[in-house]
Amino acid sequence: MGKFILGVVVTLLVLILGFLGAAMLGFIPTYANVAPPRWEHRLANSAVDASMERHAPHLSNPLSPSDQNYEDAMKIYTMNCAVCHGGLDRKAADLGGSFYPPAPNLVSHPPDDPEWHTFYTIRTGVRYTGMPAWDKTLSEQDIWKLASFLSHMEKLPPAVQDYWKTTFGVTAPTGEEEEKPLPKQN
Ligand code: HEC
Repeated sequence: MGKFILGVVVTLLVLILGFLGAAMLGFIPTYANVAPPRWEHRLANSAVDASMERHAPHLSNPLSPSDQNYEDAMKIYTMNCAVCHGGLDRKAADLGGSFYPPAPNLVSHPPDDPEWHTFYTIRTGVRYTGMPAWDKTLSEQDIWKLASFLSHMEKLPPAVQDYWKTTFGVTAPTGEEEEKPLPKQN
């Protein structure tokens, strides 16, 4: 038994030292201008989802949906998020595509998560990615407005869809149109 435990400890030490050695000798790539391999993408996404399930409180949105709240969210999104997640004018964000992992285009692929999930992602950010935590820059109210807007982006009230069209010169997404071949962003 003693020998077995010693064997386990030695193996672990060799693995840890091997990893540290490889890192110190520069074998672990740190450049960001490639797409993550599929296995890494899957593993990381599952880890983020699991962490979210464990940590995010299942809050309900304290604001009631209103045209004004959606329009506020569109302004907040344009000023803070479009640079990475793509504009409401349907232009892809080259900067967002240059992160490792790339920032998803939220206009062509709005999140299908519950609002509390999106609220928590925006408020606390995603560690080891380019997604910042917005709790110091945006108010809770503004984060709820964004979460609600992102969840309802493809089914906005007609007046908000009109506002989208007049402000950004393109129609609001409805989820029914053909997928446009945008530059690869997740
Ligand atoms: C500096 C770039 C950057 C900015 C600015 C940014 N994000 Fe992100 N965001 C990212 C990256 C990178 C990811 C991908 C994280 C991952 O793969 O888990 C991400 C992920 C997300 C996700 C999760 C998407 C999904 O379906 O998994 C949401 C929601 C989100 N961001 C919302 C926002 C909102 C709202 C704003 C503006 C307040 C914002 N982001 C601003 C880089 C950014």
